Amino acid sequence: MSYPYQIKSFEQYQADYKRSIDDPAEFWSTIAEHFTWKKKWHTTLNWNFKEPKIEWFKGAKLNITENCLDRHLEKYGDTPALIWEPNDPEEHHRILTYRKLYEKVCQFSHVLKNNGVKKGDRVCIYMGMIPELAIAVLACARVGAIHSVVFGGFSAQSIADRLYDAQAEYIVTCDGAYRGQKDIPLKSVIDDALIGNRIVKKVIVTTRTRTAVSMIKGRDVWWEDEIKKVETLGLTDFPAEEMDAEDPLFILYTSGSTGKPKGVVHSCAGYMLFTNYTFINVFQYQRGDIHFCTADIGWITGHSYILYGPLSAGATTLMFEGIPTWPDAGRFWNIIDKYKVNILYTAPTAIRSLMGFGLGPVHGHDLSSLKVLGTVGEPINEEAWHWYDDNIGKNRCPIVDTWWQTETGGILISNLAGITPAKASWATLPLPGVEPILVDDKGAEIAEKEDGVYKGNLCIRTPWPSTIRTTYGDHERCRTNYFATYDNLYFTGDGALKDEDGNFRITGRVDDVLNVSGHRIGTAEVENAINMHANVVESAVVGYPHDIKGQGIYAFVIYQGSHAQNTHGTADLIRKDIHQTVTRIIGAIAKPDKIQFVSGLPKTRSGKIMRRILRKIAEGETENLGDTTTLLDPGVVEEIKNGKL
Ligand code: WTA
Repeated sequence: MSYPYQIKSFEQYQADYKRSIDDPAEFWSTIAEHFTWKKKWHTTLNWNFKEPKIEWFKGAKLNITENCLDRHLEKYGDTPALIWEPNDPEEHHRILTYRKLYEKVCQFSHVLKNNGVKKGDRVCIYMGMIPELAIAVLACARVGAIHSVVFGGFSAQSIADRLYDAQAEYIVTCDGAYRGQKDIPLKSVIDDALIGNRIVKKVIVTTRTRTAVSMIKGRDVWWEDEIKKVETLGLTDFPAEEMDAEDPLFILYTSGSTGKPKGVVHSCAGYMLFTNYTFINVFQYQRGDIHFCTADIGWITGHSYILYGPLSAGATTLMFEGIPTWPDAGRFWNIIDKYKVNILYTAPTAIRSLMGFGLGPVHGHDLSSLKVLGTVGEPINEEAWHWYDDNIGKNRCPIVDTWWQTETGGILISNLAGITPAKASWATLPLPGVEPILVDDKGAEIAEKEDGVYKGNLCIRTPWPSTIRTTYGDHERCRTNYFATYDNLYFTGDGALKDEDGNFRITGRVDDVLNVSGHRIGTAEVENAINMHANVVESAVVGYPHDIKGQGIYAFVIYQGSHAQNTHGTADLIRKDIHQTVTRIIGAIAKPDKIQFVSGLPKTRSGKIMRRILRKIAEGETENLGDTTTLLDPGVVEEIKNGKL
């Protein structure tokens, strides 16, 4: 069974697209009629990109969890909402029906309330991929608290920064998390993050690994004990808080080209509408389908396409605790066969890594339940696209290449599975409501083709419902980052190509943001972390092409004295020290793949590092480094070239 606003043909896509651009307010208000509101809106859209100010469904009142849970209960109460596959395939999986999930969310909403959480409070969630994570997120939304989920791979320092930035008073965490053979002590990381913190009042801890944890009287409480109290009172409902359409739903921190990560803020109504609409249309979800998105809920993909998009559509969403290569590289394929998964949504980096294991782990798996495949997070190379198509989709499943960002909340450019044409390594056409435009460095629309395609910086001309609303606590930062580069345009930070037919191909970031295994990392952030090492004088970080990760991190480091003659051991040991430092400051995901010690960095006379040159060297280019005559010390380039790793 399909949905009333599901696009069923290419012609309908064209017609809906046109309607959405001609009259966005009419288009989205018609779709909004299909949701549950406590009060209807008086103004569908009010915006300007100058401030920026973006308001959708002004005047409306709602709670997103009533749309994700309550409204499905009558007809779909017994339908699985969440299937949970544990890290260890020997352990029992869990299935929560819509009714069960509703009850659990309501119970935990009571727990939040009993512990003092009120509407508008910030709750930091730092957990592994267990159902309690989904429950905690939804319970925050139900009580009107703003969740800020922090990916389990971030360090105590990163959490401390995020807690402070959001002025979060509450934390929900677990004792530990399983990932493959590892057991990660999350609560202990939280304890480190809380040293010196005077703002956090309560930490709610659920047990997963039953790792020993310190529980501080008055601050730390056990999830299970708190739930018991609610159960004793027989409470299985919790009235959903009435939220304004534009009230913030969550904060999610993401890296930019400068300074510390910023807290991207999404609002309740627009985000709900757009994640739901894109979920139903891009994946062509049919009731009863099993949707498996392999992302972590610590990233936007998990927020939008494990939780809010699928649940608001009454879908069955599969949540996987482990990793694709443990106990072996056939884990995804096992899961697909075990639950008869219909939609698989994963990242190019996962596909490339699994490709590396050959076809052995794929053989012996049926995979015939699959109907649609998807990718997200980075450009997919043609080889990986075809491997996915041939060996997983067996050439009968459309692949959707979905381009979007934390800031966009949902998918902006993608083919619609089986409805609009796919083109290997192209994200293809914009979703209804999305007006992409390619501009040159001055902001003028690209009018001339180069090698048969338009080439430029990717911007969006008008707001879609889940446009970023602000960066938490610093609206000016939101303006300068996204809306000030070009007048009246949202700037994505990506470069793109456009063909004759209006298809887009994303070529990658044009700013100083790296995309490592689909994770966004700012070069400035990594440099700051490396520079924290006592003996590092200066560093410069660039990306380089990496077969599996897409991009690797290449660091050029000036080490005090000489790295070769010092009292701290060999260059390799010093590299390990630097890795430790980065792991402490950001997390293991930001560890440089290569560290080259240099005696100087190529700088202009005004002292600016010429990253362009370093990028070329890291990419293996030795000849065409461009003009180096303006450098303070051109000799340093030769040295760096000769020492390339
Ligand atoms: C990149 C992830 C090419 C892009 C949803 C973007 C992609 C950044 C694609 C956002 C794609 C995402 N093809 N590149 N299909 N999808 N990207 O915020 O550079 O973690 O700006 O959101 O990932 O990363 P983020």
